[in-house]
Amino acid sequence: MPLTIRPIDPVNRPFFAGEVSGIDLRERATPEQVAAIVEGMDKFAVLVFHDQQIDDAQQLAFSRNFGPLEIANSDVRRDEDRRLAPEVADISNLGQGNAIMSREDRRRLFGLGNMLWHSDSSFKPTPAKYSLLHARVLPKAGGNTEFADMRAAYDALDAEVKAEIKDCVCEHSQQYSRGVLGFDFTDEERLRNPAVPQRLVRLHPGSGRRSLFLSAHAGAIRGMPVPEARALLRDLTEHATQRQFVYAHQWRLGDLVMWDNRAMMHRARRYDPSEVRELHRTTVADDCPTLEQAA
Ligand code: OGA
Ligand code: MN
Repeated sequence: MPLTIRPIDPVNRPFFAGEVSGIDLRERATPEQVAAIVEGMDKFAVLVFHDQQIDDAQQLAFSRNFGPLEIANSDVRRDEDRRLAPEVADISNLGQGNAIMSREDRRRLFGLGNMLWHSDSSFKPTPAKYSLLHARVLPKAGGNTEFADMRAAYDALDAEVKAEIKDCVCEHSQQYSRGVLGFDFTDEERLRNPAVPQRLVRLHPGSGRRSLFLSAHAGAIRGMPVPEARALLRDLTEHATQRQFVYAHQWRLGDLVMWDNRAMMHRARRYDPSEVRELHRTTVADDCPTLEQAA
């Protein structure tokens, strides 16, 4: 069966989410399939693959078709309490022994940072290119993931704002995003996480379009007083996450959703913390820091 991509929800607005059919991710993808997916990612930026009964090894093998993977290290989930392989990010509310974490568990509270609009790993010198998230266990209600199109949001800015932000360089750190939620890092964790610079406006190579590189991790703009920078970032984020730029993914078991962090922000929505929600994420790293990329 040939691989096809059908736009999701294309009514009256530029679409950026596509539904892929004609591929079984348990099997090794052919070069033609990989090329069609990359092309689809450039056109859409979010692709949904339904009914994929894959395990971690199959998810890893599929993800590696798109480039080197990030190691999913976290400051608050120590190596000894990892449930999954180093390249698989544990997007769940489960701890050791697959028990639901308590409400006060630091690892759970840290994970709540995903509920703020962000781009994955923008706090790392080289941020993420693609993220691939696979649904293993879902709560009865809630827990959608929302995506906002940073290319359309950029296009819709006034010419004056585009000129104003053209050369801005932001400082990104998890201390900033977690701090917004009132999460406290220890001094040692703080030292391990210096802020990294990222361009605010980037050129998306696959589509030739510009995008706003916003993220909850952005807490300063070089050369600008901090309150002014945060007010501007907040203003841009409000603009970029208006409903016309957003696709809300309602998960079905076995969905794999792949998105381009260079062109999208995303966030998790609330669900009942006494129910299990378990997704596994693999992350393809970008080629280099954004300041080294063509702008
Ligand atoms: C992620 C993430 C959102 C969610 O996996 O990177 O932000 O809905 N997840 O769990
Ligand atoms: Mn994320």
